[in-house]
Amino acid sequence: MIGTYQMATTVILGAGGRLGAALAREWSNAGENVISFDRKELPLGNAERLEQVLGGIEFDSLVNCAALTNVDYCESHPEEAFKTNGEAANEVALLCEQKGARCVHISTDYVFDGQSQKPYVETDSAKPVSVYGESKKLGEEAVLAAGPRHWAVRVSWVFGPDRPSFLDQVVSRALSESSVDAVSDKWATPTYTLDVATLLRPFLRRVQGGGLLHLTNTGACNWQEYGQHALDCAAAAGLPLKTVKVGGVPMSSIKAFVAKRPVHTVLDTTKLVALGRLQPRPWQEAVEAHIHNRIAAGVWKSQ
Ligand SMILES: NC(=O)c1ccc[n+]([C@@H]2O[C@H](COP(=O)([O-])OP(=O)(O)OC[C@H]3O[C@@H](n4cnc5c(N)ncnc54)[C@H](OP(=O)(O)O)[C@@H]3O)[C@@H](O)[C@H]2O)c1
Repeated sequence: MIGTYQMATTVILGAGGRLGAALAREWSNAGENVISFDRKELPLGNAERLEQVLGGIEFDSLVNCAALTNVDYCESHPEEAFKTNGEAANEVALLCEQKGARCVHISTDYVFDGQSQKPYVETDSAKPVSVYGESKKLGEEAVLAAGPRHWAVRVSWVFGPDRPSFLDQVVSRALSESSVDAVSDKWATPTYTLDVATLLRPFLRRVQGGGLLHLTNTGACNWQEYGQHALDCAAAAGLPLKTVKVGGVPMSSIKAFVAKRPVHTVLDTTKLVALGRLQPRPWQEAVEAHIHNRIAAGVWKSQ
């Protein structure tokens, strides 16, 4: 008897964003059957619409990258933050559970209070210090309560080619201005979206079970060190920078910060490596790769 092979399907929500766009493209390029939705195609926060759009589609896993991610906007719009990051995450997870699909929900290091000097492990208590962190914590809890096969995956300081982030802003500013500053008293680990695509793929199907998972590149830095490494790589690659130094400023001096930020939120990735059998690369290598890719794409021109 000849068996029939049905290719597994993965749905991606938030595919217009930095991480969702990268996962959709990278996994499609790697041969996955991907169906992706951006905010226009599937605005979250309406359970009926969700059922209408996803109810008729067969899929094996769904990765929810859609979220209200502006920390200060969330602080002043708590209702919208809890609706998108909490309630809507719950609706998505319940729909996945009902369809027998795995929900992989993307979360954040901001669920921690940042008081620990040690990297956080998955069993550490989440104690958010902002509306954003609290709303993401509610989303995680809802996803994990929906069933044992679902994952809540915490990432931090996400960068990649699909939407500019801190790293791109530092390089762009150094190309046009003679001084660049960044916060020197807040630590975490940058996470490259292209590396997330590789590291997360086994969790769509191959890794059994579910639960909390920390997924970042390795190492730790503050924003000043992160920006400085970006400029070092950009200078080495021949970009015509007006400054090659990133100055340090305290977080308390940034008047635009409405929400409180956790100070030290490095995530331990031991569980990721043990289950996924793939080792993340150091954040410095990922930043260098991103800068080379941006130059190759013609976004920045070397001399
Ligand atoms: N960026 C980081 O440094 C960082 C750090 C830790 C964790 N994370 C987490 O990583 C995940 C992906 O973040 P990202 O960096 O890719 O952020 P992003 O670029 O802001 O992407 C989020 C996407 O969600 C969409 N969205 C917002 N509200 C929505 C709604 N009601 N319905 C449908 N879509 C909606 C956004 O649409 P619009 O573009 O139209 O607003 C955006 O395309 C999020 O869960 C975030 O909490 C990010």
